[in-house]
Amino acid sequence: MRDKIGIGIYGIDKMLFGGIPSGNQVILSGGPGSGKTLFAFEFLYRGALKGEVGILFSLEEKPEMILDNAKEAFGDLADVDKLVAEKKLILYGSGDIRSYFRGEGEGSKYAFGEMITELESAIESSHATRIVIDSISILKLLIRDPFEYRNISIDLVSALRRLKVTALITIEMDVADKGRVLFQPEFFIYDGIISMYSSGDEGSNRTLTMEIVKMRGSKHSFTTVPYEITPAGINVLLLSERNSGK
Ligand SMILES: Nc1ncnc2c1ncn2[C@@H]1O[C@H](COP(=O)(O)OP(=O)(O)OP(=O)(O)O)[C@@H](O)[C@H]1O
Ligand SMILES: [Mg+2]
Repeated sequence: MRDKIGIGIYGIDKMLFGGIPSGNQVILSGGPGSGKTLFAFEFLYRGALKGEVGILFSLEEKPEMILDNAKEAFGDLADVDKLVAEKKLILYGSGDIRSYFRGEGEGSKYAFGEMITELESAIESSHATRIVIDSISILKLLIRDPFEYRNISIDLVSALRRLKVTALITIEMDVADKGRVLFQPEFFIYDGIISMYSSGDEGSNRTLTMEIVKMRGSKHSFTTVPYEITPAGINVLLLSERNSGK
């Protein structure tokens, strides 16, 4: 059996019978504000606490903003700054993927290759084993040709596989797309899909739920479970444990 990489979020690791099979490339899909970046941050944070180096490669937001937002939302998590200073938790990227697509006439394939090379050297020099790419939605906006987009996605996954890292790759996907998530052609290339849903009104009426849609190499629960974003991290509410009063 393959080694499991515990995400470090108790409920979801339970649903995965221990965690993500090591070396899996997993899509983390969800609507705006569903908590994708925070979930991915916690995956890196929990690894870093155990000495596993993690890199968050940010394509959309400035890495400093991600760090500030995570510290704000997860106020009870200790030593975030220390882990960053020790380079166990590395936030990387200009926060604007368009910097790779500068200039006229430069093929997006070439620009993307450059980005993958940067990612590879960052992984190799830091010996990172946990990777987050947040988010690849912007790629789809920049690369309109579906064939090229799919090729580029395959290049990305192949590079991550070569480096034997375990990765979470976030993508924006609305609740309305729930039925479609499995049938996005590019998703066949990923080893797993975890979907986060935010439904109802903003504010107190909002309901957050998540499910494991697929996970190669692992038994997993198919139940859709509620979760909340708390100062101590993402809290997945398992039905079995609520019933037994744990
Ligand atoms: N201090 C906080 N306390 C509780 N919840 C917070 C706090 N800060 C943010 N949140 C919640 O986290 C959500 C944002 O999380 P996150 O940035 O991970 O979402 P996302 O899915 O990555 O969104 P986007 O699509 O914008 O990238 C907010 O919508 C809010 O519900
Ligand atoms: Mg985000």
